[in-house]
Amino acid sequence: MLKNSFVPEKVPFTSIANIAKDAIIILDDEGRIVYWNPMASRIFGYKKSEILGKEAHLVLSPPQYHSAYQQGYPKFSAEGRGKVIGRTLELEAIRKNGEVFPIELTLSLLHVGERHFALGIVRDITRRKKAEEELEKYRQKLEELVEERTRKLRETNKRLRVEIKIRRQIEQELKQSLKEKEVLLQEIHHRVKNNFQLVCSLLNLQAFHTSSEEARRALQEGQARIRSMALIHEMLYQSFYQGEVNFAQYIKNLVSHLQQMESVANKDIQIKIKVEDIYLDLKKAIPCGLIVNEIIINAFKHAFPDRDRGEINIEMRAKDHQVYLQISDDGVGVPLEIDVFQSKTLGLRLIHDLVQQLRGEIRMERHQGTAYFISFKK
Ligand SMILES: Nc1ncnc2c1ncn2[C@@H]1O[C@H](COP(=O)(O)OP(=O)(O)OP(=O)(O)O)[C@@H](O)[C@H]1O
Ligand SMILES: [Mg+2]
Repeated sequence: MLKNSFVPEKVPFTSIANIAKDAIIILDDEGRIVYWNPMASRIFGYKKSEILGKEAHLVLSPPQYHSAYQQGYPKFSAEGRGKVIGRTLELEAIRKNGEVFPIELTLSLLHVGERHFALGIVRDITRRKKAEEELEKYRQKLEELVEERTRKLRETNKRLRVEIKIRRQIEQELKQSLKEKEVLLQEIHHRVKNNFQLVCSLLNLQAFHTSSEEARRALQEGQARIRSMALIHEMLYQSFYQGEVNFAQYIKNLVSHLQQMESVANKDIQIKIKVEDIYLDLKKAIPCGLIVNEIIINAFKHAFPDRDRGEINIEMRAKDHQVYLQISDDGVGVPLEIDVFQSKTLGLRLIHDLVQQLRGEIRMERHQGTAYFISFKK
């Protein structure tokens, strides 16, 4: 046997009940209070001396429980059974000062000889209930907030949808208007080209009627200059409108026109074209077109005076938005006495002025023939 071993049966019930944090109340088979611990006094407000012998349900429970009690208690006291025995219930109770408060009640049965006693353990759950109520309030508030937010979001969503619809409409209208403008621009390029062509025809007619060879040539060259511009407008109105000219294609078209000129028709001049697909807008394409026109006509006219054959090279490439154009011939070269970019003659002046208009740079070499190096920003 162990010395000082603990024997629970020897611990008096009252010493535990005295320190319990719940009210411990014992009722006899008639429902009268026969035991009342200190916590019961603290919870209900009755001293032990004033409560012992009182009918518990009359003193401690609110009227709404009375009829259930009156039905259940006789059965309990007679048979020692009852629906609520062994269960924990949440009910309400009354304090001495009349305050109704929530409790948790656990009822169990005590057999003492032939008699049945009811042991009730009562816990004041006012605080817990308050906390629960508070929590419920917060929950409700939160729900309201969520609902409010959802409502606002729904409204915003609706507004946004309307806005998107309006924007789509505007976008549609803008697209339509842009399309109309593009058509209009194409129409304008078409007319400009037609007018240029008309001027060309007039110059042609005039050249036909003039007897001076010099005047006839001048008129022909004037025609070529105008055609080089007309070609840009022609390319701008043809095909899908982009506002830009594929300059590689333009050079090929221009060269094929120039080759039909009377002055070169009976010479074997090879023209080699090595150009990348570079797209230029009207502002750049017109001066650049005129420059190419001028340089090629000069080569046709002056580079091969006593020869039937010759070669002209045209190269163009672009890098970092900078365009590099190089046109050379293997002819006699511009005479050294001509100060190329100070020249008062129209062709060279035009070339010089047009390069300035492009805000570009030009350099000329005359080793074996003539070579122009031009660069400008796209
Ligand atoms: N590729 C070339 N090869 C040899 N000489 C050239 C070449 N280009 C120009 N020249 C010389 O430079 C001169 C000036 O050329 P420029 O184009 O200014 O006048 P043009 O061709 O005589 O007349 P236009 O004003 O009708 O062009 C020419 O007369 C010619 O002697
Ligand atoms: Mg010239």
